[in-house]
Amino acid sequence: MSRRILVTAALPYANGHIHIGHLVEYIQTDIWVRFQKLRGHRCLYICADDTHGTAIMIRARQEGRSEEAVIADMQEAHLRDFSGFDIEFDNFGSTNSSENQELCEEIWAALRKANLIIEKDVTQLYDPEAETFLADRFVQGECPSCGASKQYGDSCDKCGATYSATELNNPVSKLSGATPEVRTAKHLFVQIEQLHDFLTEWTQSDDHLQSEVANYLNGHFLSDALRDWDVSRPAPYFGFEIPDSPGNYWYVWFDAPIGYMASTKAWCKKEGEDFDSWWRADSDAEIHHFIGKDIQYFHCLFWPAMLKTAGFNLPTKVHIHGFLNVNGEKMSKSKGTFVNASTYLNHLDPAYIRYYYATKLGPRVDDLDLNLTDFQTKVDADLVGKVVNIASRCAKFVAGGELSAAYPDDGGLFANAAKAGEKIADAYERCDYNTATREILSLADAANQYIENREPWKLRKDESRQDELKDICTVGLNLFRQIVVYLTPVLPKLAEQTGALLGQEIQHWDDSQTPLTGTPVGPFQHMMKRVDPKKVQAMIDESQEAAAEDAKADAASQYNDGPEALEKEPMSGELCTIDDFMKVDMRVARVIAAGHVEGADKLLQLTLSLGGDERRNVFAGIKSCYNPEDLVGRLVVCCANLKPRKMRFGTSEGMVLACGPGGKDIFLLNPDDGATPGMRVH
Ligand code: 2FM
Ligand code: ZN
Repeated sequence: MSRRILVTAALPYANGHIHIGHLVEYIQTDIWVRFQKLRGHRCLYICADDTHGTAIMIRARQEGRSEEAVIADMQEAHLRDFSGFDIEFDNFGSTNSSENQELCEEIWAALRKANLIIEKDVTQLYDPEAETFLADRFVQGECPSCGASKQYGDSCDKCGATYSATELNNPVSKLSGATPEVRTAKHLFVQIEQLHDFLTEWTQSDDHLQSEVANYLNGHFLSDALRDWDVSRPAPYFGFEIPDSPGNYWYVWFDAPIGYMASTKAWCKKEGEDFDSWWRADSDAEIHHFIGKDIQYFHCLFWPAMLKTAGFNLPTKVHIHGFLNVNGEKMSKSKGTFVNASTYLNHLDPAYIRYYYATKLGPRVDDLDLNLTDFQTKVDADLVGKVVNIASRCAKFVAGGELSAAYPDDGGLFANAAKAGEKIADAYERCDYNTATREILSLADAANQYIENREPWKLRKDESRQDELKDICTVGLNLFRQIVVYLTPVLPKLAEQTGALLGQEIQHWDDSQTPLTGTPVGPFQHMMKRVDPKKVQAMIDESQEAAAEDAKADAASQYNDGPEALEKEPMSGELCTIDDFMKVDMRVARVIAAGHVEGADKLLQLTLSLGGDERRNVFAGIKSCYNPEDLVGRLVVCCANLKPRKMRFGTSEGMVLACGPGGKDIFLLNPDDGATPGMRVH
C-alpha cells in the first residue's frame, strides 16, 4: 500500500553556509526520501531556512543592510550547495514567511487557550551600545569558577563550570566591546510540565524515537518536572512580534519547527494540495523529522507538546544522528577540515561523499568519522573498483548493439540478488544504510566473480563465440543495473547514467526484479573517476586558507574599527630603515613624580625612572586628559635619547609616547604586565 510520508531535515540557520557536517543530515534524509519515492510511496522532502534571531539581526547591522537582504542571499547560496550534492527538496521555504507567521499565531492562540502561557521576569545582560539583550554567545568574561578569561556566557571550556551570563566577571559584549549592564525584562513562558504525562507516553511508545533517545529523555528530563520554556524575546529582535504582547517577539526556536509546516503550506499552495491532509491531527500522513542529537530536546519535547495542544499531526518518528568528526577529531578550521559544501564541490564529486556517508550511517545516534584516507580507499575500491567496474568490463563489448533476447542462465545470480532486495529495502527503511550498502556490495562481488570466471575479453576476437559474449554481457549489465537500482537513493547520478546506457530510466525499486532483454545498449561513457588525493588535499588547503581569511575579517568586524583615525592622519608614506628605527632609544619608564606646571595650560611635568638612578625630567602635553596624581606609579614608554630641549619652564629630557588627536583624546601607551623600567622597546 502506498504511504503518504512527509520528511523534514533540520532547518539550516540563515547566518551561515552549509558545511560537510550539515551534509550528513541532508544526505541521510535525501537518501531516505529517494528510497521511499523509489518504493512508490508519496513522499515529500520539506525544508526551509531558519531565519530569525539575534545573530541575523547583528549580521544585517554589521553589513549595513536589511535582514531580508541577508537571508535572501543566504537562501540562494544554500540552494546552490544542496543542488550541488543532489539533495532534492520538494519545497525549500523560509521561516520568515506569511505562512509561518499565520501558523505561529494559530499555535500561540491554542497555547493561550490551554492556559499554558505565563509571564515571568528574566534578568539578562544588556549591551547599552548595541541596545540589545545579549544571548550567551555574545558575551565573554572571566569564569566565575576558575577565573579563566574569554569564556562565554553559559559555560567555561577550561573548567567545565556552567553558570548564567550575569555571573561572569568583567563581562564584555562581543557585539560592541561595551560592558554589559544587568537588566530585567518580561518574558513569556510555556508551562510544558502540564503535558508531562502526554510526553512520557509519546516519547516512550510506538517507536517514535530510537531507544537510546527515549531512555535519555526519560532519565534526564522526564524524571523531574519539566521547566517552563522561555519563548519570547524583548525588542529589538528579528522575528515575529507576538500579537498579544507588543514589544515581544517569538524566540527563534518557537517559530523554527513551525517552519516545517509553513514550508509544507507554501508547497500546498503551489501544487494545489490540501495542507490539512498532511498536518491536521486526523491526517493519515506520516511525519518523519531528521535531526542532530544537539536539538533533540526541542524536537522530542517542546515540538510534540505544541502540536498536541494545537491539534496537529504528531511526528511518526524523529530520526536522530550523531556529529561528524574528520580524521577522528572535531572539524577544525585551522586544520582545514571544516569544509564548506561549496569548497568540497570545487574539488570532488558529490557522489563520493554521498556514498561514504551512507556506508557510515546506521540506525543509532553514534557520531561518524570522515577519515580522508579511508574515504579515498572506500570510494575507489567499492564504487570504481567494484560497482562501475562491472559496467566498464561488459558494456564495451555490446555498446551500440543490444542485450540478448532472452535472459541467459546465470546460475541464479540475478534471482538471488532480486531476493536480497527486501532485506536491503528493510535496511534503508530503518536508516541502516551501512547494512544496505554492505549487502549491495556483496552483490557486486558476486557479479565481478561471474565476469572473472567467464572472461568476456577473451571472446571478443572469436567470431564463433559472439552469442556467448553477448550473453555474458547481458548478465553482467543486468547485474550491474540491479545493483544500481539498489544504490539509486544514494547515487542518483549513477542511476541516471545507467538508465541512459541501457535505454531505460530507473524509476522503481521493482526495476531490480526483472532483467532487461533485447534492449539497445548505448555508448559507454565513463561513470566515475577514482578519488584524486591531490584534490582532497587541495580541498583541505582551500578550507584552511578561507578559514584564515574569515578569522581576519571576523576580528575586524567584531571590533568594528572604522577608518577615521587613518583618514584624519594619513600614513607618512616615507619608509624608514631598521637603522633609522633603532636610532630612537625607547624605554619602559615609571612615573615617580608628576605635577602641574605653573603658567602652562597643556603641560604636566613628569619625573621618569628608567630603573636604578637613571631619571628623566619630561614636560608632556597631556594635562587635558590626565591628573598628575593618577600617573604616579604607572609605567609609560618614553623616548630616552631625545636631545634635551630647553623650554620656558625647564629642560625636557625625553618624551612619553601617546596617541590620539589631542584635546580630550590623548592615550598614553602602557606596556603589558611584567615589563620593568629600563627595558628597551623594539
Ligand atoms: O540547530 C539548527 O541549526 C536550527 N537552525 C535547526 C532548526 S530545526 C527546526 F526546528 F526548525
Ligand atoms: Zn572555569
